[in-house]
Amino acid sequence: MRHLIAGNWKMNGRLEDGSAIAVPLRRGADGLFVDLVICPPATLLLTLSAVLIGSPVMLGAQDCHALPHGAHTGDLSAAMLRDAGATWAILGHSERRANHGETDAMVQAKVQAARKAGLRPIVCVGETEADRAAGRQNAVVGAQLIGSLPADFEGVVAYEPVWAIGTGRTATEADVAAMHAYVRASLVRHLGLPGQTTRILYGGSVKPSNAGALLALPDVGGALVGGASLNAADFLAIAQAAHEVAAPPVAS
Ligand code: PGA
Repeated sequence: MRHLIAGNWKMNGRLEDGSAIAVPLRRGADGLFVDLVICPPATLLLTLSAVLIGSPVMLGAQDCHALPHGAHTGDLSAAMLRDAGATWAILGHSERRANHGETDAMVQAKVQAARKAGLRPIVCVGETEADRAAGRQNAVVGAQLIGSLPADFEGVVAYEPVWAIGTGRTATEADVAAMHAYVRASLVRHLGLPGQTTRILYGGSVKPSNAGALLALPDVGGALVGGASLNAADFLAIAQAAHEVAAPPVAS
């Protein structure tokens, strides 16, 4: 299966940094059997859509408002982000859930808004360290999925254990395999048949050294990459790992 590798730049990247990363990505992405998305700050979307025109590298937003317009100072609607060149949107990232009090219901409203505007959602779920210590990871992630995804959801889910984000600590392969199997079963229960093929990304300290092993696990359909996506060589190395895991054999 073709993987999706999405880069979440978070609040990083000035104008010159954006092109410095996107130009080598544009060059390196050619011929790779992988879907690549970068999600820079919204201030860079328009510039990078010009840099990436004609390239397979796609652009995404890191959030969107649930409403199409109105008195919401500082917010951006899904249609505005689409105008600026985004075709994807990360929604319900744990940093937004923690720092902006986003609830599952709010995330679900954003998912609906994104779809309406033509943005493909990447919906994030994941347990905290305390949840895992208490053995609650399945219950927490299962509730986030049911609460955040409409029954007719079309898009991507990212499983990102909060304790692995930006910490350099990656979940073990056994933990990732178990959680992805659980997410798959929950998606099938919640969405029916489409849940069988929904792509499930793993996120949390994915880097070139661990990408190949993680991407080869069953039900891992790609990766959501934070820190390593700010370095073009590292992001391309992760894309290359995805290519090697998923590429169909070349006929001799
Ligand atoms: P990280 O971030 O790769 O830096 O751990 C992942 C994310 O927050 O999506």
